[in-house]
Amino acid sequence: MVERQVCVVTGASRGIGRGIALDLGRHGASVVVNYNESEEKAHEVVDEINAGDGEAIAVQADVSDFDAVTEMRDEVRDEYGGIDVLVNNAGITVDKKFVNMEPEDWSRVIDTNLTGAFNATKAFFNDISISSNGRLVNISSVMAQRGNYGQANFTAAESGLFGFTRTLALELAASNSTANCVAMGFTKTDMLDKVDEDVQEKIRDRIPLGRFAEVEDVTGIVRFLAGKESGYMTGQILGINGGMRG
Ligand SMILES: NC(=O)c1ccc[n+]([C@@H]2O[C@H](COP(=O)([O-])OP(=O)(O)OC[C@H]3O[C@@H](n4cnc5c(N)ncnc54)[C@H](OP(=O)(O)O)[C@@H]3O)[C@@H](O)[C@H]2O)c1
Repeated sequence: MVERQVCVVTGASRGIGRGIALDLGRHGASVVVNYNESEEKAHEVVDEINAGDGEAIAVQADVSDFDAVTEMRDEVRDEYGGIDVLVNNAGITVDKKFVNMEPEDWSRVIDTNLTGAFNATKAFFNDISISSNGRLVNISSVMAQRGNYGQANFTAAESGLFGFTRTLALELAASNSTANCVAMGFTKTDMLDKVDEDVQEKIRDRIPLGRFAEVEDVTGIVRFLAGKESGYMTGQILGINGGMRG
């Protein structure tokens, strides 16, 4: 149950984060819809939640910018006091073969996908610790478990989230709060749209269930991890990948 829980979802203007925010809102949570560039889309998500059973606000912050995330935290405190659940979902890809990968291609992905999770967790750590339903949920990738051609930066960041999750689980345990991670398979969002059709086809052939994930394939799992029912589960990496081996 996530009713009346205050949940922050980073990168909730589009894709997986959008789906998670809408689902949490539909189940009665108060949702902070974080976005970086897609202001209009973030407000559409907020309007949809407010039209239903939840309530929501949109807050702009680039998760790679610690000061911006701290300002977001202050804005959220003004609105809700504190939060219960943080979903670190914001992420990007800058795919290149390693020989062509420049330091800035590496940094952009690490700064957003991994340091972004550090920044948001740092900002909301105290809130999660003192909540009676403190939950940290990190969204990572099956590719971090397998490795993936052209994604040295992405797989490094996403597998970093595994260690981060397991350590935060230990450090949050004293306050009875949990940290878990979802290792997502290929999901139909703008991120996957960037991949060439022929490459997509080859990937699809390697998925035992024979299809890419819909955003809705993960939202129920995240709601479970965010809710009271998952209270004895922590430090886990859940593969939602259509049977693709991690
Ligand atoms: N799609 C997949 O196949 C797949 C597979 C495995 C893991 N994942 C992971 O799932 C997460 C969501 O991916 P997606 O497929 O939904 O991607 P997406 O459709 O490209 O959406 C990315 C979201 O992240 C936000 N974002 C990007 N940079 C940000 C920043 N610096 N600060 C705040 N928000 C930022 C974007 O917000 P704005 O548009 O407002 O900038 C957008 O809402 C990512 O962490 C990704 O690594 C995805």
